Amino acid sequence: MKITVIGGGNMGAAFAVSFLQGGMLRPDQLTIVEPFEEKHAALKETLGCPVISTLNDDAAISDIVILAVKPQVYKEVCAELSSKLQPNQIVSSIMAGVSLAALESALDGHKKLVRAMPNLPAQIGKGMTVFLCSPSIAEEEARYLRDLFAASGKALEVEDEKLIHASTAVSGSGPGFVLYIIEAFLEAASEIGFSKQEARMLVSQTFLGAQELWDSRAKEASELRTQVTSPGGTTAAGIESFEQNKLKAKIVKGVRAAFERSLELSS
Ligand SMILES: NC(=O)c1ccc[n+]([C@@H]2O[C@H](COP(=O)([O-])OP(=O)(O)OC[C@H]3O[C@@H](n4cnc5c(N)ncnc54)[C@H](OP(=O)(O)O)[C@@H]3O)[C@@H](O)[C@H]2O)c1
Repeated sequence: MKITVIGGGNMGAAFAVSFLQGGMLRPDQLTIVEPFEEKHAALKETLGCPVISTLNDDAAISDIVILAVKPQVYKEVCAELSSKLQPNQIVSSIMAGVSLAALESALDGHKKLVRAMPNLPAQIGKGMTVFLCSPSIAEEEARYLRDLFAASGKALEVEDEKLIHASTAVSGSGPGFVLYIIEAFLEAASEIGFSKQEARMLVSQTFLGAQELWDSRAKEASELRTQVTSPGGTTAAGIESFEQNKLKAKIVKGVRAAFERSLELSS
């Protein structure tokens, strides 16, 4: 197996690290294409694989080419790539907002395509990648791709492109939303007496603990929450205030807004 990652930025580098650390590839099976030469030394040091400035014929012998450039430049990158591609090579895009149809057209009708939506925690092995395969990807290839994406966390294959937009809203933008809620907790913790450092410790451990508790029990989040909410108690007072202010409905609306925006931005 040989993989070329085009774009050695945040996400391309995070994926490349996970492929190596997860034992999916050896460094000699990986090539990074990154035009910004100042980045080469750090990428080579971290990955120990070849880092090149422009697409060479290496791309023509890779089994999988991962497109990890910004969507603004994908058409020119695809124009260069399409002349080198063989029909059996898989091109997997992780670019937000670029549909499989747009990718196929930019790659001159290339059929073996995958569209994946990762998220930033992939950088620490806690990512969530949702992916969609074009019909010409074989089942065993899809299985390999799932393992490859799962090297940076978890991976879920979907069959409907609409769910890529949904995942953009839930897991793609999700870390930003969770951090926004964390900001509110930090603000409240400071307001009611904790130092910045103490607030960070309390809030971080509380989010981690609540999430891991939920993950470790076969219970609904609402059921666990009800268990820690005694009538007339402190949690009940907080939840009552959240409900009065329609906080849950507002969060649902925010996630929907991200979903609508992803549909709108799609090419
Ligand atoms: N970051 C996220 O959380 C996230 C989540 C989901 C999806 N994505 C998708 O992942 C893709 C990459 O995002 P990112 O955050 O990793 O961006 P990024 O850090 O800017 O990385 C993009 C990389 O591609 C390089 N590049 C630009 N033109 C190129 C070319 N012609 N050939 C090869 N490489 C080229 C850039 O080099 P220069 O530095 O020289 O410009 C940069 O290193 C985007 O399409 C984004 O939609 C990102």
